[in-house]
Amino acid sequence: MAILVTGGAGFIGSHTCVELQNAGYEVVVLDNLCNSSEKALDRVKAITGKDVSFYKGDILDRDILNQIFKEQKIESCIHFAGLKAVGESVQKPWEYYYNNISGTLTLVDVMRENGCKNIIFSSSATVYGDPAQIPITEECPKGQCTNPYGWTKSMLEQVLSDIQKADSEWNVILLRYFNPIGAHKSGTMGENPNGIPNNLMPYVTQVAVGKLKELGVFGDDYNTPDGTGVRDYIHVVDLAVGHVKALKKIEEKAGLCIYNLGTGHGYSVLDIVKNFEEANGVKIPYVIKGRRAGDIATCYCDPTKAERELGWRAQYGIREMCEDSWRWQKNNPNGYEE
Ligand code: NAD
Ligand code: UD1
Repeated sequence: MAILVTGGAGFIGSHTCVELQNAGYEVVVLDNLCNSSEKALDRVKAITGKDVSFYKGDILDRDILNQIFKEQKIESCIHFAGLKAVGESVQKPWEYYYNNISGTLTLVDVMRENGCKNIIFSSSATVYGDPAQIPITEECPKGQCTNPYGWTKSMLEQVLSDIQKADSEWNVILLRYFNPIGAHKSGTMGENPNGIPNNLMPYVTQVAVGKLKELGVFGDDYNTPDGTGVRDYIHVVDLAVGHVKALKKIEEKAGLCIYNLGTGHGYSVLDIVKNFEEANGVKIPYVIKGRRAGDIATCYCDPTKAERELGWRAQYGIREMCEDSWRWQKNNPNGYEE
């Protein structure tokens, strides 16, 4: 039996393929490569020594989905495929709703037609909006999203929950990721953003490697210890392992479950700069800028539910996240492009 990994060539998907193969699962990837490179899958194979069955195609394409279910014995799906750039989603809302929502509806329909009713969905801390409580537990009410990307996550959580409620044969696990950073220890796989990065760590590593001049710190007047935004950064390999644990839960007939995947620790933007400089001996010049629209002051989770129910807990700390992000960037200044 195999696991269908949609979006498996992407940042989190590729790291999850490694952990799945290390845990003995057979991996089938569907990805249209709109935000990734097939080379990531070559790196997966080089690390694990195992083959990945790769289908280049779209989750909106019923034919390729049916072909996969015909050719492979798919037991469960880990569904990463989606567009994720917050700013772009504000400019192109239709594209985001169509790709993420219609894509997921198509995937789920073909899954049930083929008798596969197990899905793990990539959700985000963004569904909490400006969180009602810190640390954020799964019981914390969902909030107002500030952009279409966030709404696709919030809406898809609702869609998948309703599908599970209507048909108890479904097992649905919603994983709310906090801020994934870091990279595989080998330095051969990591985050590969297109153009100028929007997220903090890829921006920092591109400053470190000399591609960008300085980091802009978006606001130093928040109600946080040093005035800069605080987030729950989590190593992408820990996140990947969380998916393997979630699959075990699915195998126990999970029904509907929701888990926060974070470390439970909050670090400010300046904490990240300082830790990165100390871990790697590289200077990160920065300037303080105005706040970024839609940003919140503080966001970190209470990860104890995942520990209790999945036996999962993040192993890596901020130093390793900084070291591993840098090793990837330094060895691959242009990501997967030569
Ligand atoms: P990514 O862009 O690296 O990976 C997503 C993959 O999906 C890419 O390889 C892309 O080519 C593919 N894809 C997109 N639309 C597709 C479609 N219609 N058909 C087939 N493939 C398609 O992003 P990531 O950081 O690895 O994120 C994976 C998932 O986790 C996404 O759903 C994202 O929204 C979610 N998430 C990410 C973060 C984060 O900070 N990285 C945080 C919370 C949630
Ligand atoms: C972003 C997304 C969110 C997504 C999350 C995880 C936005 C508004 N939100 O959240 O939907 O779920 O990533 O991937 O983009 N920062 C700087 N300078 C920079 C970049 C970031 O100071 O150049 C600061 C931000 O203001 C924030 C922190 O660094 O305080 C982290 O930013 P980022 O990596 O973009 O993640 P989030 O804002 O948490």
